[in-house]
Amino acid sequence: MFKDLFIRKTLTQLFAEAESNDNGLKRHLGPWNLTFLGIGAVIGAGIFVLTGQAAAQYAGPGIVISFIISGLACAFAGLCYAEFSAMIPIAGSAYTYSYATLGEFLAWIIGWDLILEYLFAASTVAVGWSGYVVSFLQDFNIIIPPHLSAATGTVLVNVPEVGWKPETSQLINALTVQGINIANLQHVTAIINIPAMFVIAVIAILLVIGIKESANFNNIMVIAKLAVIILFIAIGFFFVKHTNWVPFIPKNTGVSGHFGWSGILRGAGVIFFAYIGFDAVSTAAQETKKPQRDMPIGIMGSLGISTILYILVAIVLTGIVSYTTLNVADPIAVGVNAMGSSMFWLRPIIKLAAIAGLSSVVLVMLMGQPRIFYSMSKDGLLPPVFSKVHPKFKTPYISTILTCFVALIIAGTLPISILGELVSIGTLLAFAIVCISIIVLRKTKPDVPRPFRTPWVPVVPILGAFVCFYLMASLPLDTWIRLFVWMAIGFVIYFSYGIKHSHARKRKNNN
Ligand code: ALA
Repeated sequence: MFKDLFIRKTLTQLFAEAESNDNGLKRHLGPWNLTFLGIGAVIGAGIFVLTGQAAAQYAGPGIVISFIISGLACAFAGLCYAEFSAMIPIAGSAYTYSYATLGEFLAWIIGWDLILEYLFAASTVAVGWSGYVVSFLQDFNIIIPPHLSAATGTVLVNVPEVGWKPETSQLINALTVQGINIANLQHVTAIINIPAMFVIAVIAILLVIGIKESANFNNIMVIAKLAVIILFIAIGFFFVKHTNWVPFIPKNTGVSGHFGWSGILRGAGVIFFAYIGFDAVSTAAQETKKPQRDMPIGIMGSLGISTILYILVAIVLTGIVSYTTLNVADPIAVGVNAMGSSMFWLRPIIKLAAIAGLSSVVLVMLMGQPRIFYSMSKDGLLPPVFSKVHPKFKTPYISTILTCFVALIIAGTLPISILGELVSIGTLLAFAIVCISIIVLRKTKPDVPRPFRTPWVPVVPILGAFVCFYLMASLPLDTWIRLFVWMAIGFVIYFSYGIKHSHARKRKNNN
């Protein structure tokens, strides 16, 4: 049983699968759709929520450098994804690439690990979506009851003139400074996060109905968020006060990771979340008209555009207001407030853009996950039901419904703080393995046609893997423990199901 643990799928098999038209999926997508899917998945909670917190707590205006570092790490990984996805255009993405290079067991590990990225990111971002929707509606005096819009068991406090906020030690301290005793404020304990569940349910319907419909919806959301981000940058430049950038890299406080260069690196680790998602483009490979040409365009195009916008937003935001005021859930709105009352009209528009932006992240992540399951099921590592394609809609509908159902339960009940770092560590592991796989395949199959070649191999993949491992190492021990527990669950499933049903093993035993 263990002797074929590292059995590989041959490239000939994979090429045949990629070209076959009897897999049920439909080839609808072109380079623009792919680039928009990438931007759809990338620009979301990271820029709309995390930027301010990372600047305020770790890097100051130097968060701009954090964005450059994290963007570079993603560019290395992105180039490796581009080579693989053009060469092996299969929906399984990193899972399939490692099946061809490192063997079945590691492929399973990656497939299982990608659930952390796609499914958990979708739930995390759905919770962020809920926060923005509640706040947007509140501006119009429509109040969603607090106990129905937060994770099960979260204690919420009604803060005067602010509204309901989770009771954290930070909040208690802030109120104490203002002379407010938190015990005197109204409290509730949340039951479930209904808006977060709602957005996932709606997106599930769209994803089942069709890839084209999903891509069209995504295009609209992406145009909305891009327009507003560009508007913020363009208007914001006129409100920059150079003094806010001084000092650009605030002095380290004596604690590693709190400002100074170590703070910039810590900021890069936190902000990495903002870049997650460009790789989801590769899961649409079997629904792309010309994957050999369009995959690299979609991956690198979306990554390039997102990186430039992130850097510009960080420059403008830290120029408009002092970074010390940005430790909030809606830093861009704080930036708009600082532009003065003449700019208040921009506030609801920013919130709407965030809502649109976060919807598209949830959509693309929930599009990616079922397609990984689809490939794993096609290989026999998951039950056949996961690769059932709807006869009319041509989508992997059962795995889509199952994925969305689990994401919906997680989003409705779990707090995001637990999930965010788990998403990052899972993604970093996948990126690192994809980088290593590029080197392996260049050695073992140097002559296979590669429509796109990662430049400067092995330097780029080695740097990519190194930065990913470095960022993983900077994450807290708790996150590592959760990763190991998650992997242990995966091993149990592999050794009790996958290993017995693997098609690659069956093929070998029949020969
Ligand atoms: N990059 C995605 C976001 O920031 C996950 O929301």
